[in-house]
Amino acid sequence: MSSLTDVSVTVLGSAQQRIQHDLLTALAAFSIPEPLQAAVHHTVMLGGKRVRPALCYATAALKSNDHFAAVRRAAVAIEMIHCYSLAHDDLPCMDNDLLRRGQPTCHVAFGEDTALLAGDLLQSMAFEILGSRLFDQGAAVSPAIVLKQMQILATASSKMVCGQVMDLQAEGQQVDQVALENIHRNKTGALITAAVMMAAVTVFEGTDIAIPKLREYAQAIGLAFQVQDDILDIISDTEVLGKTAGKDQQVEKSTYPALMGLENAQTYAKQLHDQAFAALEVFAEQGSELRQISQFLLSRKS
Ligand code: IPE
Ligand code: IPE
Ligand code: MG
Ligand code: MG
Ligand code: MG
Repeated sequence: MSSLTDVSVTVLGSAQQRIQHDLLTALAAFSIPEPLQAAVHHTVMLGGKRVRPALCYATAALKSNDHFAAVRRAAVAIEMIHCYSLAHDDLPCMDNDLLRRGQPTCHVAFGEDTALLAGDLLQSMAFEILGSRLFDQGAAVSPAIVLKQMQILATASSKMVCGQVMDLQAEGQQVDQVALENIHRNKTGALITAAVMMAAVTVFEGTDIAIPKLREYAQAIGLAFQVQDDILDIISDTEVLGKTAGKDQQVEKSTYPALMGLENAQTYAKQLHDQAFAALEVFAEQGSELRQISQFLLSRKS
């Protein structure tokens, strides 16, 4: 995990604490038989940068410092979907990885059957949480907002799955930049965008200029996120990454460094980061948390 001493990641550090607490609370609301319970705990609770929850909180903070219950549920739900995607991504039938977040992958620890089911369960739990009143203290949020959050999450999850199949098909193939961008925007960008948009529709009116600006920001960092992930597979090492470095090259994944070379990929990540910053101009100083997250994503080492 990244060092939390760096001032640019204090936003992430406090998000990590908040989501850790809320995920534990959310998981405790379900009665799950063993070994599924242990597999879900392993997949959700052991580390992770928690970038998607941090994006939910930072987006809501544009409007108010209140810890909106519906935003907290959105953060839990998006992290559950993300964790499910990791458990399935690591399966032998997909990326066949042994290490995740510095731990044995879910299927290594619990078997493929349980890892598959842990992912399935996390997916449905995410939507149960969104539709629940977990964390509510006052009045419930309007059903229209809950419906919007669910639609955003469902659409992004479907895109993630489509991106994953395109990623697998592209192994060992020559793909052009248009095709690669399509894979990355779907498999990774969609969930990152959903993290921002689920919070955005909760705190802003549908007609607010903030909504399209936040979408622009999120789409830029969403793509940059996977470009950086591809770069780190080459320049980082297994201990720092908490997952096996060099794996993309081993299985001939279609990645940005493979397509355009390492330096060009790094330049491209920076251009996307600049696009993200430009989209935040409208928020002036209030956009500082979202800026810090983009900065972190560009400089991260894991
Ligand atoms: C890894 O995501 C999978 C990708 C979408 C590239 P993260 O880098 O956010 O993984 P964790 O949650 O920090 O472990
Ligand atoms: C995974 O992309 C995106 C997901 C939907 C999980 P990668 O396969 O590159 O993610 P890592 O490198 O295994 O974390
Ligand atoms: Mg993969
Ligand atoms: Mg993978
Ligand atoms: Mg990767």
